[in-house]
Amino acid sequence: MRLITPEHPLIKHKLTILRDENTPQPVFRQLVEELMTLLAYEGTRDVAVESVPVTTPVASTTGVRLSEPLPLVVPILRAGLGMLEGMTRLLPTAEVGFLGMVRDEQTLQPTTYAKRLPEELSDRLCFVLDPMLATGGSIIGAIDYLFERGAQRVTAICILAAPQGLEAVREHFADRDVTVVVGAVDEGLNDRSYIVPGLGDAGDRLYGTI
Ligand code: PRP
Ligand code: URA
Repeated sequence: MRLITPEHPLIKHKLTILRDENTPQPVFRQLVEELMTLLAYEGTRDVAVESVPVTTPVASTTGVRLSEPLPLVVPILRAGLGMLEGMTRLLPTAEVGFLGMVRDEQTLQPTTYAKRLPEELSDRLCFVLDPMLATGGSIIGAIDYLFERGAQRVTAICILAAPQGLEAVREHFADRDVTVVVGAVDEGLNDRSYIVPGLGDAGDRLYGTI
């Protein structure tokens, strides 16, 4: 597993407001999108491009465009949905699939309740979006499923991660092409396996308690 933690003052500034328990829901949502865009800038460095001719008002030259097959973006519902807009702003032509997963707060095991992905995943870079990588169970389950379906390369983009969760991902995908891009690696997990200091329950702060 390759870990990318972009060092950028804007990421640190926005993360600090995101963590604040007094940050209101609309601001929280906006910041999740903005952080996603900043992280996506780093996470998309490996997307494949091909040369194309382009004529400017002044001259003809050569540029690039994204190659086919276009990347696939897979937000993990619920909380990952809050990151989608920030990602598609940078990659408007990407295809989007969905995985619905929820972590059992007693056993910490993730359950998948929704799967909607295109047929063909091989040869395309897949991006999994989930703001929180705590024990790592949910992201491991999501990436495992993409590999089962034929994906070869997966990049997970998360806003916060715990060292334990990153270690679990590293061990689980020792022989696979997995990259994790994360805004900050926090201190650890509390006795309920919430990230510390973290930001609380990302899904609840985005959408309210259901
Ligand atoms: C949260 C979060 C991750 C998962 C992280 O989702 O968005 O998917 O927990 O925990 P883990 O690394 O220990 O698996 P949650 O299960 O609360 O569902 P939600 O997005 O619907 O709120
Ligand atoms: N899920 C969250 O939303 N936050 C955490 O800190 C851990 C799991």
